Amino acid sequence: MSDPSDDTPSARRRTFAIISHPDAGKTTLTEKLLLFGGAIQLAGEVRAKKHGAQTRSDWMGIERERGISVVTSVMTFEYDGRIFNLLDTPGHEDFSEDTYRTLTAVDSAVMVIDAAKGIEARTRKLFEVCRLRDIPIVTFINKMDRESRDPFDLLDEIEKTLALDTAPVTWPIGRGRSFVGTYDLAHNHIRLIDRDEEAIPVSGPDDPKVIDLLPPDERDAFLEEITLAQEACKPFELDAFREGHLTPVFFGSALRTFGVRDLIDALAAFAPSPRGQQADGRTVLPDETRMTGFVFKIQANMDPNHRDRIAFLRVCSGKLTRGMKAKLVRTGKSISLNAPQFFFARSRSLAEEAFAGDVVGIPNHGTLRIGDTLTEGEDVLFRGVPSFAPEILRRIRLQDPMKAKKLREALQQMAEEGVVQMFLPKDGSAAIVGVVGALQLDVLVERMQAEYGLPIGFEQSRFTVCRWISSDSRADLEKFVEAQRSAIADDLDGAPVFMATSAFSLKYEQERAPQIVFSEVKDYQ
Ligand code: G4P
Repeated sequence: MSDPSDDTPSARRRTFAIISHPDAGKTTLTEKLLLFGGAIQLAGEVRAKKHGAQTRSDWMGIERERGISVVTSVMTFEYDGRIFNLLDTPGHEDFSEDTYRTLTAVDSAVMVIDAAKGIEARTRKLFEVCRLRDIPIVTFINKMDRESRDPFDLLDEIEKTLALDTAPVTWPIGRGRSFVGTYDLAHNHIRLIDRDEEAIPVSGPDDPKVIDLLPPDERDAFLEEITLAQEACKPFELDAFREGHLTPVFFGSALRTFGVRDLIDALAAFAPSPRGQQADGRTVLPDETRMTGFVFKIQANMDPNHRDRIAFLRVCSGKLTRGMKAKLVRTGKSISLNAPQFFFARSRSLAEEAFAGDVVGIPNHGTLRIGDTLTEGEDVLFRGVPSFAPEILRRIRLQDPMKAKKLREALQQMAEEGVVQMFLPKDGSAAIVGVVGALQLDVLVERMQAEYGLPIGFEQSRFTVCRWISSDSRADLEKFVEAQRSAIADDLDGAPVFMATSAFSLKYEQERAPQIVFSEVKDYQ
């Protein structure tokens, strides 16, 4: 399926993530995709990680205890002449902020849905993030080998709850125990579970090669369904998919390694190669010769043997080569990329060169922050690695008050890494930390103790919600800040936030101050 126009390194790349609700089959599908890519030795490691076996990325006790993966890793594999970068997103709901940031670094996503459950809460939330950036989505309806809901019902649910058009590419032949394969609606061929996904040409749905696969009492219903699917469902349209309005849908079973080839072929054929990235003032195109990239994640101490800090950089244009000097646009300073790394499920290797669409890890000692742009000299800034207004606010209780300065430094580090957000109240009272999910607080306690020797606890803050504030008029903003001084704090970058004791009082103040914009999401920079 290779296309001769795919001759530039960036055109060969597909950088994507899998979005799903826990248990829908993301880990299983990831393994199977890696198997197709020949990265067999990695496949077992995905599961080992999920089950909390001690792998290198299980760098924290909390991960081992709870069997969850806090670390976002990147898995690279080749298939059909393409290079796939699969950005793994943390599985636990509480780590949604990291997940959201990861989605800023992909060009497409696979949405995995459990055929018995349909669209679940977390899938919907992640989908909304994809929609913000019009990320094209390929849908995989998984677990067809089990009792499942009616396929039309599932398609209808996607259309209604996500406002996304669906174009089924395949249709299941049988359900649950009698699920034997899929019928390709556009090409008149079938693939069977026990025939290694080879495409078998057929004359139509009533071809005995198809119909004889089903128990006699299911045949009429099947023919009716296929006719309806062919006549009533939308055909796949590349442009609508690329614009994020329509999703091609595949049915399969990750566990039985079925439907996976269709999926990977679809990614190779339809999913976009690295797209132009919006920066201040212009769109940076992947085939520009000069290297640019942005940091979407920071991870400290991934490897207990090397107390390092890794910034994950999504390359947006040009070629990154080991040893090159790059400009950190935020400070104007130059940094040497002496040891950029590629990550796999478990191991890492030095990256001699990387192209647009690739993700490399850059070891550093705190120089790089989330949202930072690196270039070969140009003063361009990428936008769009967001920060979300925390849903939980707490004051930190320090057991040893003499360590206040150390606490401030450690918190600053954690905030730069994106573990928590830190807010410094204007009235000089103790720092407040904000998180999107409660588990982040546990991570903070554990890391403060393990990495800084600081035992900490939390106290309720009287505030429960906060919003970044801005205004077209500087004078209006200053007036508001002055009037609300005891409810204003600065975030890590000095941007003002307004804190309220309840959603009700937030709404009340918003109504009283129409000249102020209250934002739930803030772009870094
Ligand atoms: P997740 O990463 O999205 O959380 O899901 P994961 O792949 O771990 O799958 C969740 C459970 O669903 C696993 O079973 C897995 O074996 C099962 N599963 C995944 N895909 C399919 C499928 O296509 N058909 C069927 N029948 N089951 C599927 P488990 O018993 O919870 O875990 P495990 O002990 O097998 O790891």
